[in-house]
Amino acid sequence: MNSFSFHNPTEIYFGEGTADQLAEKVIRYGSNVLLVYGGGSIKRTGLHDRVAKQLQEADIRVVELGGIEPNPRLTSVHKGIELCRSEGIDFILAVGGGSVIDAAKAIAVGVPYEGDVWDFLIHKAEIRGALPIGTILTLSATGSEMNGSSVISNWEEKQKRGFGSSYMYPRFSILDPTLTFTVPRDQTVNGIVDIMSHVFEQYFSLTQETPLQERLCESILLTVIENAERALDKPDDYAARANLMWCGTLALNGGLISLGMENDWSSHGIEHEISAIYDIPHGAGLSIVFPNWMKYVMDERPDRFAQYAVRVWGIESNGRSDRELALAGIEATRHFFTRIGAPSTLADFGIGDEQLDRMAYEAVRFGPIGSFKMLNQEDVRAILQLCL
Ligand code: NZQ
Ligand code: ZN
Repeated sequence: MNSFSFHNPTEIYFGEGTADQLAEKVIRYGSNVLLVYGGGSIKRTGLHDRVAKQLQEADIRVVELGGIEPNPRLTSVHKGIELCRSEGIDFILAVGGGSVIDAAKAIAVGVPYEGDVWDFLIHKAEIRGALPIGTILTLSATGSEMNGSSVISNWEEKQKRGFGSSYMYPRFSILDPTLTFTVPRDQTVNGIVDIMSHVFEQYFSLTQETPLQERLCESILLTVIENAERALDKPDDYAARANLMWCGTLALNGGLISLGMENDWSSHGIEHEISAIYDIPHGAGLSIVFPNWMKYVMDERPDRFAQYAVRVWGIESNGRSDRELALAGIEATRHFFTRIGAPSTLADFGIGDEQLDRMAYEAVRFGPIGSFKMLNQEDVRAILQLCL
């Protein structure tokens, strides 16, 4: 196990009805709030009214920024920064999924910075401050509600980049599983794949002697698998939605489950290049990329893949080699993704090989990616080829 330090400052309020405790949380940080939300789901579900009423009753002024896109765009972030400056905003409240929260984070760090917030995403400037943010999560997937990361798309340049800072952790996040009852089936599936992928990126590691971390990862995977179809069959199954929600938050909250382990985020890097050009949902892209990445890299450490097959998928070893078990575990992953309705090829989105070179080039623009297996441009191209 490697040495590590860990600090996660986000307060979590979890459970049915926690969204009704919003005003008392907000008032600790500000009284002039930018309310950030997406394309309208919170209006349809009535959550917008619930939030607005509470804030109004607590004499908190609200300025609204709706219309944040899935795969949130830099143009929306710019709009938010301008609003914060012109309206003297002192707190940002994100109500939505990962895209809304990510946009709020980027707005928060962009406000005190004189240059273009995109500078942070291309490593041209360092984050030195931010407005405080809080969130009400409505979709279990990214973990953005309890981490310091954000992913923003620059649509004009067809670039999607992630960045992170300790300044971007939400001060608090409200996790009420009932708010996810209305998440459509396909977005629930995307979220499930995203949560599992976050665990994979940490679990497939070359670091040795990390039994606790490995079991933490396996327990999240098992819990997601056990609850996935329950939530899909019965969208208002509280226990299933609650378990998925907490799994999502734990899977990516500053690395809690894999402290002391080296991580490998190359599948995310490759997926971001696909959605940068084709604007497909993040979880759908991961469902296509991940099993192919697994196949491509498994020979670096077949024992870890064999452990995954046995402990997560209950595959019996029966004298089989690590390599055979590894392949069976990867097959089980693909089979599960397909069973819940996640895509398996780029062709499922009508995507051919036209942009493979460009995606491979962009994925390694700042150097080779990965640590389980370091990937250069040819490697990324080969993995994308497997995705066709
Ligand atoms: O926009 P609205 O109308 O709110 O609808 C959204 C959106 O269309 C809808 N939705 C959300 N909650 C709902 C709901 N519909 C009905 N009922 C509800 N309760 O779902 C759609 C997708 O929402 P989005 O926020 O885009 O999904 P997700 O949470 O999966 O976020 C995806 C984004 O997060 C980034 C991805 O790259 C992508 O841009 N990621 C962020 C990470 C982070 N900050 O740590 C890590 C992840 O790996 C990921 O890269
Ligand atoms: Zn993800």
